[in-house]
Amino acid sequence: MANVVIVGTQWGDEGKGKVVDILSEFADIIVRFQGGNNAGHTIVVNDEKTILHLMPSGILHGTKKCVIGPGVVIDPEVLWNELTRLQQKGLLQKPEALRVDYHAHVITPYHKQLDHLREAKAGARKIGTTGRGIGPCYEDRAARRGIRMADLLNETLLRRKVSENLEVLNFLFEGYYKENLLEPEAISDTLLEYGQKLKPYLDDVSIFVAEQTRQGRSLLFEGAQGTMLDIDHGTYPFVTSSNTVSGAACHGTGVGPSSIDTVIGVSKAYTTRVGMGPFPTELDDDNGRHLQSQGGEYGSTTGRPRRCGWLDCVVLRRAIRLNGIRALALTKIDVLGGLDKLRICVGYKYNGTVYPDFPLGLAGLDQVEPVYEELDGWKEDLNDVRDFDELPAAAKRYLDRVRDLLEVDLMMVSLGAKRGETLMLQNPFRQGR
Ligand code: GDP
Ligand code: IMO
Ligand code: MG
Repeated sequence: MANVVIVGTQWGDEGKGKVVDILSEFADIIVRFQGGNNAGHTIVVNDEKTILHLMPSGILHGTKKCVIGPGVVIDPEVLWNELTRLQQKGLLQKPEALRVDYHAHVITPYHKQLDHLREAKAGARKIGTTGRGIGPCYEDRAARRGIRMADLLNETLLRRKVSENLEVLNFLFEGYYKENLLEPEAISDTLLEYGQKLKPYLDDVSIFVAEQTRQGRSLLFEGAQGTMLDIDHGTYPFVTSSNTVSGAACHGTGVGPSSIDTVIGVSKAYTTRVGMGPFPTELDDDNGRHLQSQGGEYGSTTGRPRRCGWLDCVVLRRAIRLNGIRALALTKIDVLGGLDKLRICVGYKYNGTVYPDFPLGLAGLDQVEPVYEELDGWKEDLNDVRDFDELPAAAKRYLDRVRDLLEVDLMMVSLGAKRGETLMLQNPFRQGR
């Protein structure tokens, strides 16, 4: 038995959904601990593609318990729609299969409206958010005026909070944004309806997880977004509004650090980013276009094209340190196939000196020049490879070089979107601390 945290090491969309789905076989309980439906985690089973936004990626196994912790922000409509769609597929037949924390904060229509209006007003200086109301909801949490899942069961309290919050926001919507006012009664009515629908799933996740742990069950914590989108450690202000690093698994679930046995980082074999902000290894050439088209690099949540670039070991070294990563799952190695030469960023040059980390902290990221190592590419299709030794020599050299540059083990190499297109080199659930 082990408890494992999975986190993204780059700017999100590393393939966490696929890695969590595969590792769920060895876990009993899969926990989402931060973020909300800004996430889009894709799983492909038997040619059927499922994109999950709030539900933990273990849900397709059918027999695993899934948990949404207090650190997640929940749009009740999105949760309900996702839940009912999964039920139509024969999953989640009993409420016990999903536990949602009473204390998780609720995304309301006014959070989404504020998110959109701010982005529109910011013009070229926008963050490029997913528009799901994530930032405004976390802001209300910090300002201590947020609405929590438990509040959806308390009509008097909910109506008071919604109307108090909207009193201020409507002033802003009308006076500053020249936008229509929102109606507190209608918003409260809808939230109360979702409260009744979701009531059977609500629980105290910390107590639930502690009890399950006592019974010997193992936990898989599923991170959303990626380390470079972390509110403290990422490319601020072009980040999301939660802590995405592994430490957040503890407070976002309600377990102590001693509950975590190991941390696995998920990285693409190259780099992508959706939204604005610095991206040192970004490509605007045929190589970038190859990664975009071969990798199908369009956002799972918003459909926006993802910006593409070479693998960046400076970013990954930082992610390894910030998360305490013991091993990496490297995905989409198949997408590199067909390129003549591959590049890996090994350091950043600033004012004539090469640095292995960010020379000026995060603030100076748009002033650095990536320093590359070049390796030979390969032409072979990797989707049918089932053993590390069957990989083309150039692909093995690429993987070995990544391992050496980062001084970290590879626990998984992913060669395609499907479950079977995976080389599992280590099993974190079978290893001790
Ligand atoms: P997540 O947000 O980290 O779960 O990643 P996304 O699901 O947003 O994006 C990853 C995309 O890559 C999805 O479309 C996956 O189906 C796909 N994918 C995952 N692993 C591989 C792989 O090894 N090769 C290829 N070609 N696609 C992959
Ligand atoms: P998964 O879990 C990639 C990005 C947005 C934007 C910034 C802030 O699928 O990897 P937000 O709506 O959170 O306020 O947007 O963060 N972003 C993601 N990018 N993958 C994600 O999730 C993301 N979630 C947010 O594009 O740049
Ligand atoms: Mg995604």
